[in-house]
Amino acid sequence: MRMYDIINRKKMGQSLTREEIRFMIDGYTKGEIPDYQMSALMMAICFQGMDETETLELALAMRDSGDVLDLSQIDGRKVDKHSTGGVGDKTSLVLTPMIAALGIPVAKMSGRGLGHTGGTIDKLECFPGFSAELAKEQFFQNVNQVKMAIMGQTKELAPADKKLYALRDVTATVDQLSLIASSIMSKKLASGADIIVLDVKTGSGAFMKQEADAFALAEEMVRIGKNAGKKISAVITDMDQPLGNAVGNSLEVKEAILSLNGLGPADLMEVVYALGTELVLAAGKADSQEEAEEMLKQTIKNKTALDKFAEFIEAQGGEKRMVYQPELLPAASIQLPVTNTQAGYAAKIQAEEIGQASLLLGGGRTTKDSSIDLSVGILLNKKRGDFVRPGDTLATIYASSIDQAKEAYGKIVCAYQIQPDMPEKIPMIKGVVRPQAIHGGKAP
Ligand code: URA
Repeated sequence: MRMYDIINRKKMGQSLTREEIRFMIDGYTKGEIPDYQMSALMMAICFQGMDETETLELALAMRDSGDVLDLSQIDGRKVDKHSTGGVGDKTSLVLTPMIAALGIPVAKMSGRGLGHTGGTIDKLECFPGFSAELAKEQFFQNVNQVKMAIMGQTKELAPADKKLYALRDVTATVDQLSLIASSIMSKKLASGADIIVLDVKTGSGAFMKQEADAFALAEEMVRIGKNAGKKISAVITDMDQPLGNAVGNSLEVKEAILSLNGLGPADLMEVVYALGTELVLAAGKADSQEEAEEMLKQTIKNKTALDKFAEFIEAQGGEKRMVYQPELLPAASIQLPVTNTQAGYAAKIQAEEIGQASLLLGGGRTTKDSSIDLSVGILLNKKRGDFVRPGDTLATIYASSIDQAKEAYGKIVCAYQIQPDMPEKIPMIKGVVRPQAIHGGKAP
């Protein structure tokens, strides 16, 4: 088999076989296939696409390029959750302790990632001592005892995807649906959970700006998961404005703690309940959506989710008392209000601009080695649909330097669009994709 022929066949619009896909993924992971040939193939895929079977085979080949976690030492059916990412997305911090409080084991692998804020692990590192660098045995033990653990993605997890994603990033070949779906799912499948819920975001702050693209991606990922033997569903959620009010690591952790105390912002909680319902139903703990949602709500009312969060932080070395005293979490020295000048309704809050402002403040990473200021960020005092008067505070900037605060100020002003009429309400939940509605694909 020759890589040249594989590139040529894809260039002509032909479907690649399982053997061809395995050959190119194995060869690329081992360094036997050079970047220039892989780049040519990725570009050919961007122009010609891949069918469902090829997409599934690519996901499976990348899954098998490294360790596939065997979670059989953990009792019960393990759940995992993945978000395609957005601004202010602290859903995992709220949802996972709620699920664990219901006795459903959460075995989650998370990344740090590049972006406007850190990833879930960076956020959790706001608790001094917290570590996600768990040995596998420790991870299994924590899930068995606490019912939840979060572990950093190891180098051995889907190494083919790691290498390929870095290549796609610099060859303008990221935005191809089959490549995205197989990339995300290769890591989820390698993480070993039995039940997966995907939060596929759509809107100005999301990877998938158009709703139709978000649904198409969700369907492709659910199809892959189903054919790989997982219980899986995807919820398509709004990311046209930041989720909740807080953007920035410690601010988001504080908002997550507020949410676990029953004071969560409505939009965030709607997403949490929609995703949680999918997990509770898939785990067989409830017979109806209403029952599942009620069970989740109880974990907030009776504070079992809050206590579970504290238990989890402690089990991974973090200072548990900060869950009950969030004022002790990292706090920025400067607070600068962003003042409104015009009467009207907040019609749009460009999530991407707010994300950029967070990045300017030092709350995110521009390269994988850059450090993060956990204390900085933006608190949105006004959200879409709120009426604002001149002089009202639209948002509050939390900064470590006044120059950075001033730079972020301009971005935040630009992010808000004020108009005389009340904007139409945009639903948070655009739909749910479940395997029953998916056809095609091929059993592995
Ligand atoms: N996230 C991933 O993990 N892979 C992609 O291809 C795109 C986003």
